[in-house]
Amino acid sequence: MVLQPQLKILISRDEIARTVERLAREISRDYQGRQPLLVGILKGSFVFMADLVRRLDLPLELDFVRLSSYGCVRETSGKVRVVQRLQTRIKGRDVLVVEDIVDTGTTISFLLDYLKKKKPASLKLCALADKPSRRRVPVPIDYLGFTVPDKFVVGYGLDCDERFRNLPDICVMED
Ligand code: IMP
Ligand code: MG
Repeated sequence: MVLQPQLKILISRDEIARTVERLAREISRDYQGRQPLLVGILKGSFVFMADLVRRLDLPLELDFVRLSSYGCVRETSGKVRVVQRLQTRIKGRDVLVVEDIVDTGTTISFLLDYLKKKKPASLKLCALADKPSRRRVPVPIDYLGFTVPDKFVVGYGLDCDERFRNLPDICVMED
């Protein structure tokens, strides 16, 4: 695939595959004997979710929510809304949220609070990437793929203004 000149590979597809494999082993082990519901956050988690679920050795179900936050492309404004709700009742279920990247923590802490009110049996978070340098709201990440530096990353589901989600590697945008 031809990369744009301003994109540099930060995490290669091979490294991503190995990490997804590791996360899948941890999750399969921890949820043995249970039937978790994986909740993906659209749109960013769709590639990660697709790879992860195919490596999980569990009788799982999945669903998606779509959130929107007002503000410019690279910064969450702090106001998060659910624009597409879950189709599944989560009361009493073991829920595992699958997110692309935790940045300030605003988006995911909103969603975790929202889901907690629906009384799941358990609620955990799996994130592909974490940018801890920018955290404003503390977020416990139960399963983490990568810690990334304070740079804007795209690819493997992550976008900039809706572009680059299809890149197979995680790339850094140099501006
Ligand atoms: P937060 O609410 O500040 O934690 O932002 C989280 C959301 O912002 C993620 O779900 C992503 O959609 C988006 N985001 C944060 N950092 C990046 C990045 O480096 N690349 C692409 N999207 C990002
Ligand atoms: Mg996004």
